[in-house]
Amino acid sequence: MDNGKTELKNRQTTRRDFIKTAGVAGAGLLAAPFIASGSWKETSPGDTINHAIIGTGRQGVDFHCKGFAKAKGCKVVAVCDVDPQHLGAAARELPNGGQVKRYSDFRKLLEDKSIDSVSIATPDQWHTPMALWALMAGKHVYIEKPCSHTVEEAELLIKAAARYNKCVQHGTQRRSEGDHIEAIKQLNSGIIGKVHTVKAINHQLREPIGRAVAEQPPRGVNYDMWLGPSPVVPFTKNRWHYNWHWFWDYGGGDTVNDGVHQIDIAVWALGNRYPKRMIVSGGQFFYNDDHETPDTQTAILQYDDSQIIYEMRLWTPYNLEGHDNGNVAYGTDGKMDFGRAGVIVTKGKEQIKIESPEPVESIIPNYLAAVRENNPSRLLSPVKTGRVSSDLCNLMNIANRLNAPSIEYDPVKRAVICPGYQQQATALLGREYRKGYELPYK
Ligand SMILES: NC(=O)c1ccc[n+]([C@@H]2O[C@H](COP(=O)([O-])OP(=O)(O)OC[C@H]3O[C@@H](n4cnc5c(N)ncnc54)[C@H](O)[C@@H]3O)[C@@H](O)[C@H]2O)c1
Repeated sequence: MDNGKTELKNRQTTRRDFIKTAGVAGAGLLAAPFIASGSWKETSPGDTINHAIIGTGRQGVDFHCKGFAKAKGCKVVAVCDVDPQHLGAAARELPNGGQVKRYSDFRKLLEDKSIDSVSIATPDQWHTPMALWALMAGKHVYIEKPCSHTVEEAELLIKAAARYNKCVQHGTQRRSEGDHIEAIKQLNSGIIGKVHTVKAINHQLREPIGRAVAEQPPRGVNYDMWLGPSPVVPFTKNRWHYNWHWFWDYGGGDTVNDGVHQIDIAVWALGNRYPKRMIVSGGQFFYNDDHETPDTQTAILQYDDSQIIYEMRLWTPYNLEGHDNGNVAYGTDGKMDFGRAGVIVTKGKEQIKIESPEPVESIIPNYLAAVRENNPSRLLSPVKTGRVSSDLCNLMNIANRLNAPSIEYDPVKRAVICPGYQQQATALLGREYRKGYELPYK
């Protein structure tokens, strides 16, 4: 990144480009293994999809290991983590745990030609770099949300998914829930009239994390690989499992953690569009600890005919309009609530619960069906839409970090406007990558 002068190169990356880039990287950590092994997977998966999971923390085990292990026509054949404790716990969760291959280095896993598909459930900063390498190695990818740590990364990921013609499912799983799909259909058909406002609510109590002291990383852990593209800093318990969410180098706070699900529903309701402007305010009003990311964020995402209002408060042991994490779409004839009780339309005194008229594939079976057909257009939560909600969250964070009152982003020109903070905001569309952990291409 060069303080705003970086332009994403608008070119198709060919395998030759990749080899050249990797060659330039020389002994770079992310270079050579694919070339040396020639692991270029061009075949479609057979009846059984061989799946691998990279990142076996909470979500990697609870959702990916368990979900992929029980899915029809799929076998979890490998797991990868830099923490041997997590790796062992993940293998124990799998029915074939004794045979499952264990990796601490994802590059080695990607060399395995028998693997058709990977989940990426690591800290956010690794999502796009790993996905790019996986796509280049010919794998399909289920990527956790947010798909990217920066707006530039999202752009690259979209290009790579198209270039390598692989399925990339985004972990915003409401997109594959039947009641939500039906609700958005009915919203578009005018069940609550014209929708001029959608609220995205992230209202919960997240306890402070205190101040952690520097110490040695746990034994056997590859902390350098965990830090990946980010600067080398001493290990602390707060910069580690789960709490990394609250440090800008690895995550983007609760806006990209829980908030991205609600932003995703709000943009879905409004047709997956970028707003013309975002007015942002907030900061750290509650925490006085190691947190770097805000505990309070309010944003108005302005469209010509409507708006999204995002309200995040992490110090509220009570709900907002009945929701901790939820959405309300306000129309001229009624409102629609999306939340833990399902989707409910309120019109005057009448309340209607929206149900799906037919069963819908949930997100993992839907992904596997798309992989089996090698058909990205079958995905219910494709990275193409996940990218919009990830970008909007990342842009809100840029404005919040800079204390800038507003930010605009044109996804076609790939240009940001952030009055008073133009250079800093442009720089924050990307990030620097530590030597040896550069992206495979730009
Ligand atoms: N879709 C959802 O509803 C949902 C819910 C929870 C979490 N998530 C997402 O899942 C991801 C993981 O979150 P979590 O709460 O499980 O975090 P976590 O810290 O518990 O787990 C992350 C795991 O990744 C491992 N890891 C880190 N760097 C690695 C590397 N270079 N190679 C291999 N492994 C590496 C860590 O050691 C750890 O075991 C996040 O992106 C989060 O946003 C999604």
